[in-house]
Amino acid sequence: MKEIKKICCVGAGYVGGPTMAVIAQKNPHIQITVVDLNKERIKAWNDEDLSKLPIYEPGLDKVVLEARGRNLFFDTDVDKAIDQADMIFISVNTPTKTYGKGKGMAADLKYIELCARQIARVAKTDKIVVEKSTLPVRTAQAIKRILDQTGNGVEFQILSNPEFLAEGTAVTDLLNPDRVLIGGSQSEKGKEAIEALASIYGSWVPQERILRTNLWSSELSKLTANAFLAQRVSSINAISELCEVSGADVNEVARAIGTDSRIGNKFLKASVGFGGSCFQKDILNLVYIAKSYGLNEVADYWEQVIIMNDHQKRRFAENIVTTLFNTVNGKKIAFLGWAFKKDTNDTRESAAIYVANDLIEEEALIHVYDPKVTELQMLSDLDYLATREEEANKKHLTVHTDAYKALEEAHGIAVLTEWDEFKSYDWKRIYDNMQKPAFVFDGRNVLDHKVLESIGFEVYTIGKGK
Ligand code: NAD
Ligand code: UGA
Repeated sequence: MKEIKKICCVGAGYVGGPTMAVIAQKNPHIQITVVDLNKERIKAWNDEDLSKLPIYEPGLDKVVLEARGRNLFFDTDVDKAIDQADMIFISVNTPTKTYGKGKGMAADLKYIELCARQIARVAKTDKIVVEKSTLPVRTAQAIKRILDQTGNGVEFQILSNPEFLAEGTAVTDLLNPDRVLIGGSQSEKGKEAIEALASIYGSWVPQERILRTNLWSSELSKLTANAFLAQRVSSINAISELCEVSGADVNEVARAIGTDSRIGNKFLKASVGFGGSCFQKDILNLVYIAKSYGLNEVADYWEQVIIMNDHQKRRFAENIVTTLFNTVNGKKIAFLGWAFKKDTNDTRESAAIYVANDLIEEEALIHVYDPKVTELQMLSDLDYLATREEEANKKHLTVHTDAYKALEEAHGIAVLTEWDEFKSYDWKRIYDNMQKPAFVFDGRNVLDHKVLESIGFEVYTIGKGK
């Protein structure tokens, strides 16, 4: 088996950066270069001041500090890194297509193809190419065809090694993964490539947690894992609406069903709706693949997960309007949180964006506090929806760096992200400085509702009727 001495990772994003940092930390004998076209991102990865890393993840700064400059490098010279590497990870973005065939459903593979073509153009020695990005089943076949076009005698082995880390816990997930999945060709050389990658993970992951499969199983398992996880959230959210009208409490229901070991207790937290860059994109992709094979019932089944999620976000906004005497026109609605979950600065597909958008349609004035998300990011999230002029978004959205200022004089408070710090706020002080009746809409069920009600708040909870 060929020893891997140099790795290149194309794409220094939420996956490429942390994944390579941990691989480098655990394999000091391997030189790893993470490359990206985005110069600003690479500059931030190289910043002496670790608080300026482009991604906020608990514990990431320590890992980067240990490996960077030793065997971990961030660079913009993509050709050079590809040329020198024995193994190349492709970790570029695979967003939902926004144009042409499959618009709004299929994964846009243009960055993947560009990468494959660049590797084909530059490579002069044999390479193992690893799909780290989440891809439609059978993408490896397309990558292989592009790579094999070179005709210069270079041999490529393609592996699928999807990433299962969750944002906010990326470092602990990488250090202690439930499993590492490696799919590859079942030929002699394919198996050698699988073992080469398995030995890199073997530096810290027990062998029994390293699963080997064929390429297509590995590619499809990633989409399936995300679909199952998102489906659990939509399932409990569907039940949350039923709880609200029937007098049941969704937390109690979740606990009752979660103790059944066949169901399990994780991913049963009712919320304002799931967000994040992947759940929606990956399910849409799954739906598109099923449809393209003519499997309409399969497609419809999974699409329902997205339909339920959209409904959950919309009804949260509608409930705010209804509760505030059917109008939020000119009223200050304070948002606690904008990120799609706690402990990340990522806002992609965050429920907060959609709830804000719906409330702005009702002429509300949204004031937001999020410990990690910038004003620029929030405005660009709203502008991306293209519901109204950018100026109008600016007029309706005010961003605060002090939570108490955001909440002052508000008619209602909506909790959109479950940041821990919200629990320890001085809620009496907040109550005293608010409009009355003082409404709280807890979209994450994180606050102590008994305490809030004893102070005088009217609290609306997902999954608990009045
Ligand atoms: P990202 O947008 O944060 O990062 C992708 C990076 O790739 C960008 O910085 C972009 O500039 C760069 N890039 C694109 N084309 C390039 C090229 N040709 N050459 C060099 N650089 C290029 O995306 P991400 O969140 O890291 O996701 C990457 C992939 O991993 C996606 O397929 C995603 O579905 C998957 N994934 C993401 C997560 C997550 O938590 N974010 C988890 C598991 C899997
Ligand atoms: C998810 C998966 O958990 C990862 O395994 C996967 O690698 C990743 O997608 C990906 O492919 O990108 P992530 O989106 O980072 O990770 O975060 P999750 O913890 O899964 O949360 C997703 C969304 O669901 C968040 O908005 C979260 O608040 C929401 N959620 C999660 C709930 O509303 N209830 C729950 O019980 C769990």
